Amino acid sequence: MSENKDKVAFITGANRGIGFETARELGEKGVKVILGARDKAKGEAAAEKLKAKGITATFFPFDINQPSDHQKIFDFIEKNFGKLDILINNAGVLLDSQRGNGGNLTSLTSQEILRKTFDANFFNLIALTQTLLPLLRKSPAGRIVNLSSVLASLTLHADPASPIYEFKTFAYDASKTALNAFTIHLAHELRNTKIKVNSAHPGWVKTEMGGPDAPMDVADGGKTSVQLALLSESGPTGGFYHLDDPLPW
Ligand SMILES: NC(=O)c1ccc[n+]([C@@H]2O[C@H](COP(=O)([O-])OP(=O)(O)OC[C@H]3O[C@@H](n4cnc5c(N)ncnc54)[C@H](OP(=O)(O)O)[C@@H]3O)[C@@H](O)[C@H]2O)c1
Repeated sequence: MSENKDKVAFITGANRGIGFETARELGEKGVKVILGARDKAKGEAAAEKLKAKGITATFFPFDINQPSDHQKIFDFIEKNFGKLDILINNAGVLLDSQRGNGGNLTSLTSQEILRKTFDANFFNLIALTQTLLPLLRKSPAGRIVNLSSVLASLTLHADPASPIYEFKTFAYDASKTALNAFTIHLAHELRNTKIKVNSAHPGWVKTEMGGPDAPMDVADGGKTSVQLALLSESGPTGGFYHLDDPLPW
């Protein structure tokens, strides 16, 4: 715990679900956590819950789709901490089953759903990461965790024997595949720095997105992100993991 006391983490979409649990676990391990959330009341309530557990938690109003928020969080972290140790790119959307989108058929997936999905899960996530990178470079052990999904795996989607073969939510899946490409490319660029970049599959988790049939309890949903956020210097970079298991791209 004490080895993490100087670390600062920013978690996007931290008011609920996997993001909240990731903030809780990192906080319990001594990391100072900044909870990004677009709803003020929900964000503040989430930070209060963590503070009640003795965690150093701060709410920061943050919408990934608002470029001005990217600069605001940069300024806040620079002013208060001078560096960022952990960026958890957790906020994400799954919009494929919205009404009017052809019942998840790839051939009928609308441009609107594709663009909205890629804005949140890919383009704006990359913009945020690029904005915060100078602060991560100032950390002695910068860690970037990109919340991907097993549904990003082209290898598994192409395999009729794979358990995800029938789960084809095209816009979401493609946005996470593209995110995995970002992980590989950024990790390559940063391979000679102290920064590690990895993709996480949290598991199929009972959240609003995962739904009630998911096998994993929300309390366990942050485990893979936390593991990748606290990797030691000898840990991997440019990988795709669920807990300790590497996943096929
Ligand atoms: N649950 C699963 O089984 C599962 C499996 C694989 C991967 N994942 C990934 O894990 C991550 C977290 O998933 P989850 O299950 O915890 O989802 P969730 O319960 O739907 O929570 C999503 C979080 O993202 C936030 N968010 C959405 N749009 C945002 C925006 N424009 N700006 C800022 N925040 C925004 C939400 O905020 P609001 O409360 O304001 O909407 C919420 O805090 C996602 O990237 C997801 O793709 C989840």
